Amino acid sequence: KNTKYFDFNVQYQNVTRLCHSKSMLTINGQFPGPTISVNEGDYVVVKVSNHVGHNMTIHWHGIRQFRTGWADGPAYITQCPIQKGHSYTYKFKVTEQRGTLFWHAHISWQRSSIHGAFNIYPKKGVPYPFPKPDGEAQILFGEWWNCDVKAVVDEATKYGGGPNVSDAYTINGQPGLLFPCSIKDTFVQHVDHGKRYLLRIVNAALNDQLFFTIANHSITVVEIDATYTKPYKTDYIVIAPGQTMSVVVVADQPKGKYVMAARPYVTSDVPFDNTTTTAILEYTGLKPSETHDDNQPIIMPHLPHMRDTNLATQFSTSLRSLNSREYPSRVPKQIDTHLLFTIALNLQDCPKGQICKGYFGGRFSASVNNQSFLHPEIALLQAAYHNISEVFTPDFPSRPPHKFNYTDLKLSLNMNPEFSTRVKVIPYNANVELILQDTGMMGTENHPIHIHGFNFFVVGEGFGNYDPTNDPVSFNLVDPPMRNTIGVPTGGWAALRFKADNPGVWFMHCHLEVHTTWGLAMAFMVENGPTAQQSIRPPPSDLPPC
Ligand code: C2O
Repeated sequence: KNTKYFDFNVQYQNVTRLCHSKSMLTINGQFPGPTISVNEGDYVVVKVSNHVGHNMTIHWHGIRQFRTGWADGPAYITQCPIQKGHSYTYKFKVTEQRGTLFWHAHISWQRSSIHGAFNIYPKKGVPYPFPKPDGEAQILFGEWWNCDVKAVVDEATKYGGGPNVSDAYTINGQPGLLFPCSIKDTFVQHVDHGKRYLLRIVNAALNDQLFFTIANHSITVVEIDATYTKPYKTDYIVIAPGQTMSVVVVADQPKGKYVMAARPYVTSDVPFDNTTTTAILEYTGLKPSETHDDNQPIIMPHLPHMRDTNLATQFSTSLRSLNSREYPSRVPKQIDTHLLFTIALNLQDCPKGQICKGYFGGRFSASVNNQSFLHPEIALLQAAYHNISEVFTPDFPSRPPHKFNYTDLKLSLNMNPEFSTRVKVIPYNANVELILQDTGMMGTENHPIHIHGFNFFVVGEGFGNYDPTNDPVSFNLVDPPMRNTIGVPTGGWAALRFKADNPGVWFMHCHLEVHTTWGLAMAFMVENGPTAQQSIRPPPSDLPPC
């Protein structure tokens, strides 16, 4: 059996961007953090040692953690945090997944600086289902704040207002050419004319979806969220926080320097960082005068308008799973568990005597089926496994508590969600259909909803209120895209299907960090199957105590 070992030391490091230096939480002093490269079928062992005064955990985003939920990582869901001076060794197997994923801290907003790529190569001797690339590059998007990110989140939670926006987006940790202080550190990928390259793209930014494009080069998507797709050729991609993909780029243009650029796709009126991050695709063999001469033309791309919902929708609804003989799509056809979840931003009354900075003097919160998630003090998985009572209740509603017109601001007004730690219990091997309905409350936003422990099929999506009679007629049950994070259309809905074959407790939340902070989260509890092989494994002995 193949095992890959990694040592992750959580430590402070001074990092400088945009002429500002600050001490940040990092893994092994690196920002972004180290890349994990494994092959499908490998066992992975990562020893995480915490040397700082902050509790922390690491999540292997998109890894299914089949029967190993103890290694999933969200704080107070599957484990209590690793405390200062302690370590925890995450052990899991990478099964039936291949492509690009990432890992990140999963407590507070620590993932702003604690994240890195997680690349899964095919099993030895197994080819890609597309022509072999001649080379590859990582494109990892992040966000940079000049100030301490902890202060940003503390301020937002204290007053219930929106957090300060970041100062720049980054590609592989660098803001790029449009920021005078950082130009010389811009990420450069060298390519040979005529060769093809696999770009492994990760959106590790905290709060914004991004458009990405490369001047004069088209992009062919071949994999999303570690599942292969039918090749899809495009000029632009849109990628939400939590989403990952592999794309093929052929260096088929005249030799030169071409700019790769990303900036937000945003649909709401809330303030956001509207800057553009860039990197360079540079052909090898340019004459020395061409590479070193500042007059060498750098070819800039055209970026879509920041609110181009048509383009974003066109892109995400064009993706299809590969559904080949080697990689068949196993979409559940008969559904036994029907769920309808509304996802909402809410405004809560300001408690007497407090200052609140949300709209109309209230506090922002967020909810699923009107339940705003409260993190417990003992991890849900531990509470369930050891039958510890009063940590959660198993009564998360399968449908919204009231009938709303979800797209009408006044009719969907819902000022005070309920704060709770409820879980949705799902029988082992249930065939689940989950409709996610965005509500029109307070400036609609496209929420990237992420589910741990599963990949799901996106069988349909649309705008407006979901119609249970007519919408299912057009569901794609043949080759729908398979993902772990779905951008639910603004003021619309998405229909997901998955088989609940992975016993454990699995977090579902918006991957816009501020929304998780406000409570846009819930947890599924998938029961054990009848045999030991269909049950979660026992907890590891070094699981951090609560
Ligand atoms: Cu990428 Cu719950 O996380």
